Amino acid sequence: MPREGRLARELVCSRTGVAAPLDEPAFLSPAGAPWLVSYDLAGADGARLAAAWRTRPWSMWRYRELLPHRRHDDRVDLGEGGTPLVRLRRMAPAGVDVLLKEEGGNPTGSFKARGLSLAVNRARELGAPGVQLASAGNAALALAAYAAAAGLAARVALPEDTPPGIAERCRLHGAEVLTAPGTLVEAGALLAGREDGFWTVSTMKEPYRVEGKKTMGLELAEQLDWRLPDWILYPTGGGTGIVGMRRAFDQLEELGLLAGRRPRFVSVQVSGCAPIVRAFERGDETAAPWEEPRSRVWGLRVPKAIGDFLVLAALRESGGTARAVDEAAIPALTRRAAREEGLAVGPEGAACLLALEELAAAGVIEPGQSAVVFQTGHPANY
Ligand SMILES: Cc1ncc(COP(=O)(O)O)c(C=O)c1O
Repeated sequence: MPREGRLARELVCSRTGVAAPLDEPAFLSPAGAPWLVSYDLAGADGARLAAAWRTRPWSMWRYRELLPHRRHDDRVDLGEGGTPLVRLRRMAPAGVDVLLKEEGGNPTGSFKARGLSLAVNRARELGAPGVQLASAGNAALALAAYAAAAGLAARVALPEDTPPGIAERCRLHGAEVLTAPGTLVEAGALLAGREDGFWTVSTMKEPYRVEGKKTMGLELAEQLDWRLPDWILYPTGGGTGIVGMRRAFDQLEELGLLAGRRPRFVSVQVSGCAPIVRAFERGDETAAPWEEPRSRVWGLRVPKAIGDFLVLAALRESGGTARAVDEAAIPALTRRAAREEGLAVGPEGAACLLALEELAAAGVIEPGQSAVVFQTGHPANY
């Protein structure tokens, strides 16, 4: 297998399985569902790939064969990925080995850098005139920065109560900023019907952000020497990370690189906006929109996720669960992480630490097990 060879094959509709060519603009499938990228891994040599990855710089681009980007040497790269795993010394529930995947050190301070790096790189190589999205904040920051680096025009639509520093930083990168009362849903409506042909790269409305976030799973597996933890706790808004990591683990398994069992995913939300948790508990395949989303955990205030059915399937197939936490308890967790662990965790990461505590107290996560908590963004962004 050529070392530089891209193994991506085509786009596949996540609902119907219909295929489409990879190197053409793609947003939602004809069925209105997210496209996913399929890979041709039959005959690929996993051991050789893993050996090549080990020799490369510690960033998400080391996994280039498992990414759909074509012009690797010409990519826009701000140093995304390659984040540390930090073992909790005092906040871990008794007997549970807890590692925190600290994503706050990414460019623009959050894990959104991974997906938006790839989405903007693909928009650039496929000839987009500009890029736009609706965001709770962190995705807007990442889009603005990567578009600036790519020389592409950018537009972001934010709920009007988004912390003001976010809009300022987006403008600093040259992005146009729109605001709307309400949530992401209302902000997204501002982008519809524009005539300038900008590509909309809102969560799951194009195939590449999932692929970028997939690298969290690839990286985690490599960091743990291909032996995944018992549990992965992920703060879930649109759920891109869960969908991406599940694909990462499928692909690594197909390459013969994973040892042991697959992890159980936990979707963590807040009680003021918990559509995935409610659907999980009811046994529903999709999540009804949350009627009155109330939360200041901005990344989790997502009343309707377009990839909800993919997230719910990943939770169920992994034997995982979903948990809504009371956000009033989040500041105390943030303080404890600072004082007891030396960590600066964002509210989304703190929500996961709270869920970990509650699930251990309830006997769901047991002594002797291991868990990885995703700390997805630096609190300074808010
Ligand atoms: C810091 C942070 N964590 C988690 C999320 C939710 O991510 P996802 O949409 O992948 O579920 C967001 C989304 O805005 C975020 O900014």
